[in-house]
Amino acid sequence: MLKMHNVSKAYITDSVKTQALQSFSLEVKAGDFIAVTGPSGSGKTTFLNISGLLEGFCEGQYLLDGQDVSKLNDKDRSRLRNEKIGFVFQSFNLIPELNLFDNVDVPLRYRGFNKAQRKQRIEEALNKVGLAGRMNHYPTQLSGGQQQRVAIARALAGSPAFLLADEPTGNLDSQMADGVMALLKEINASGTTIVMVTHDQEQALQASRIIHVRDGQVEEVIHEQKAIA
Ligand SMILES: Nc1ncnc2c1ncn2[C@@H]1O[C@H](COP(=O)(O)OP(=O)(O)O)[C@@H](O)[C@H]1O
Ligand SMILES: [Mg+2]
Repeated sequence: MLKMHNVSKAYITDSVKTQALQSFSLEVKAGDFIAVTGPSGSGKTTFLNISGLLEGFCEGQYLLDGQDVSKLNDKDRSRLRNEKIGFVFQSFNLIPELNLFDNVDVPLRYRGFNKAQRKQRIEEALNKVGLAGRMNHYPTQLSGGQQQRVAIARALAGSPAFLLADEPTGNLDSQMADGVMALLKEINASGTTIVMVTHDQEQALQASRIIHVRDGQVEEVIHEQKAIA
């Protein structure tokens, strides 16, 4: 469970202050599939990065699985992030010099798994996204849709409770986007909680809840979506 209460965050650059989040409150329950929508600059990425412990915040409280993250030191916060969170970015963020196997291995190396455990997890994760046959390929040898599948495998390999995705289909054509959405729904159905930022209204409608963000605040929450197909 992820619970934010009145979280505020401002960026200050050259005496310009931008209020990215303003008293942002939201509760995400285990098993949810949340779509976060809103205009560009409204604070969606800031919210997701704070959720994933990639960024801190100025005011308010954030509990991740019951742990007050502001009370953790850097080391414990990194450990919590590594154990609980998988990230997927719009631009995939794969390492071009590494083959698919080694790309998926990157976050596992911080987790204390031994080599055999890592190998099993990598193979399972790549199998789940339909790319087990390409373990020795490099990212540039794949289509965008396939690269995003590798990024999803990398996010899943550590069995995170939460998958956070920032416009995961933003760089994909519609057919590849549909494939990635189908995969995310499957992952959610097998128990992983998902928070996904999207510009695509049709995609948002496939989530179990839509959070509309405006000016750094939750403007509207749309509940009771149709059951995920
Ligand atoms: N690192 C940063 N430094 C300064 N301002 C930032 C930074 N990141 C985001 N912002 C500002 O914070 C606001 C929210 O940004 P963001 O969370 O990226 O919005 P969204 O993802 O909804 O487009 C915007 O006004 C943006 O310009
Ligand atoms: Mg953004």
